[in-house]
Amino acid sequence: MKTPLVSPSLLSADFCNLERDIRMLNESNADWYHLDVMDGVFVPNISFGFPVMEAMARVAEKPLDVHLMVVEPEKYVERVKELGAKVMSVHQEATIHLHRLLDRIRKEGMMSGVTLNPSTPVCMVEDVLDEADVVMLMSVNPGFGGQKFIERTVEKVRALREMIDRRNLKTLIEIDGGVCRDNARRLVDAGVDVLVAGSAVFKAADPVEEVDVLKR
Ligand code: DX5
Ligand code: ZN
Repeated sequence: MKTPLVSPSLLSADFCNLERDIRMLNESNADWYHLDVMDGVFVPNISFGFPVMEAMARVAEKPLDVHLMVVEPEKYVERVKELGAKVMSVHQEATIHLHRLLDRIRKEGMMSGVTLNPSTPVCMVEDVLDEADVVMLMSVNPGFGGQKFIERTVEKVRALREMIDRRNLKTLIEIDGGVCRDNARRLVDAGVDVLVAGSAVFKAADPVEEVDVLKR
């Protein structure tokens, strides 16, 4: 059985105790740290931006997985690179020249990620799969933590898995939204490589243990 990577979303951390929560994850088996940037335009919410992420990066001992829920994400490639991020994910719906942007992200030495909203079919990434190191499927409408998992996403994972395997690519499939111990196994079996989990990890009695539960 495949072991997924787990990328806890800091959106569900205690913002008054970010350092404590990140140090807790440093001691866990979490693989990446998922940072959700929202601009109040692409999504109806505002989270945190670069000054906060720079502070987080100073404490984080694991790779940063930056999820930009912002319009014109192409404006921020250098800033995300300066953070030392491993993955920069942008929404297919938020940028016009997606192919060029994914290329630029790679040239800056990061893994290029493209994210799809629940309403966007997986065929929308077909022509950029060669440029994408990660395709992230949203299994909730982006903007908030703690929402209910949209079941239809499992079918999308299967279709995307098939597309990637058919072309012999190494592109990772990441899933974001409503992921928990009750659906993790099913998602990995359908072809997911990276599980993002916010409330499932941070609202658990023991977040460190919850990361292990998600991994098995
Ligand atoms: C939603 C964010 C997610 C969110 C997931 O817009 O992209 O990363 O933090 O939170 P949960 O796991 O609670 O659904
Ligand atoms: Zn996210």
